[in-house]
Amino acid sequence: MRKLRSAVIGVGFIGIAHIEALRRLGFVDIVAISDPNDSEKKAQELNIDKSFTDYKEMINQMNLDVVHICTPNNTHFEIAAYAIKKKIHVILEKPMTLSIEEAKILLSLAEEYQVINAVNFHNRFYPTSLYMKESIQKNAIGDIMSVSGMYLQDWLLYPTDYSWRLLKKISGNTRAIADIGSHWIDLVEFITGSHVNAVMADFKTVYHKRKKTKIEHKSFQVTDLNQEFEEIDIDTEDISTLLFRFDNGAIGNAIITQMFAGEKNKISLFISGKKASLQWDLNRHGDVIIGNRNEPNQVVTKDSVLMGNSVESIIDYPSGHSEGFPDAFKQTFKKIYRQILGFDEEILYATFKDGLHQMILDEAIYESANQNAWVNVGE
Ligand SMILES: NC(=O)c1ccc[n+]([C@@H]2O[C@H](COP(=O)([O-])OP(=O)(O)OC[C@H]3O[C@@H](n4cnc5c(N)ncnc54)[C@H](O)[C@@H]3O)[C@@H](O)[C@H]2O)c1
Repeated sequence: MRKLRSAVIGVGFIGIAHIEALRRLGFVDIVAISDPNDSEKKAQELNIDKSFTDYKEMINQMNLDVVHICTPNNTHFEIAAYAIKKKIHVILEKPMTLSIEEAKILLSLAEEYQVINAVNFHNRFYPTSLYMKESIQKNAIGDIMSVSGMYLQDWLLYPTDYSWRLLKKISGNTRAIADIGSHWIDLVEFITGSHVNAVMADFKTVYHKRKKTKIEHKSFQVTDLNQEFEEIDIDTEDISTLLFRFDNGAIGNAIITQMFAGEKNKISLFISGKKASLQWDLNRHGDVIIGNRNEPNQVVTKDSVLMGNSVESIIDYPSGHSEGFPDAFKQTFKKIYRQILGFDEEILYATFKDGLHQMILDEAIYESANQNAWVNVGE
């Protein structure tokens, strides 16, 4: 099999996770990276032959098959548009763009230039996520009545915590929603097979000013309090509560916050059906709890035999051997690259169409929080 030539654009927190996951696939050559900051040093540390500070130069010189765009949100549109017009397949980090308009343009460019397109909603690729999806498809829990849960983090708890994500002009209109809420909603829609068609949102910004260190640091890096700070106005939400109506008739709610002390990256789901319920928590991502009324509850643990054929396709280790965050990335990319290589399979990963849908939802949530009213999600 020919090895595909890939490059990663933006090598911060998540760019490195992309590189690690791609290397584990074995049939991808990461031939270059591009980053305006320390690109040569990063390439040396990661043992990558070529480094560029300008992604256009890299794309023009490197004869690439695929680019992974792992840069701050406000750069996704221009980089993806440039790559697509050179007929390069694009794997884009979430959120897809800053606006619905930009996402629509990227989708139509991807269709025009016929490139494989994906947005990295990797939570779909925990084996338990796919197992829950298939259980619901087989009607194992009956009609869904409600879906609720949360996405909690604590890395922005203090007013000295800072990231480019806090600013609308870089993050987009929302922050907690674009950054982590979009993961929760995409996962719920993927698993239940139904779409949110109306939202009611409440936003809270706890600190309207935050202290930013004069020296930039990586996402999630703990702030060194001995450094010099400057005060920055914050125009995005720290916390959001959401109510949902789904197109299958179910109702739901969620809390999305980056200020919940002690929870680093907690995603949980509670899905109630007329026959049984499903519960899942990222902190125990290998287990699904099936709730029954007239018989004991069950815990199904990640296992290719117990979970069935299609889930088996994203399990690479025997039961009892954890497959977590880096594995979900590997499985996402495995599916996308198989599509690039021409394997004709059901597309389970999020495409630009799904990315656009999340942008539409994101905007409806923002509008609802501003209007203090239910907002229908148009397409
Ligand atoms: N799927 C996930 O779970 C997940 C997790 C974290 C971040 N993300 C997404 O990934 C993206 C990056 O987030 P991060 O946490 O890695 O940020 P980061 O700040 O840690 O890294 C961003 C990198 O991009 C580089 N960069 C900036 N502009 C660039 C440009 N024009 N060309 C090339 N490189 C450029 C920066 O120098 C930096 O190295 C965001 O869109 C974020 O929402 C997704």
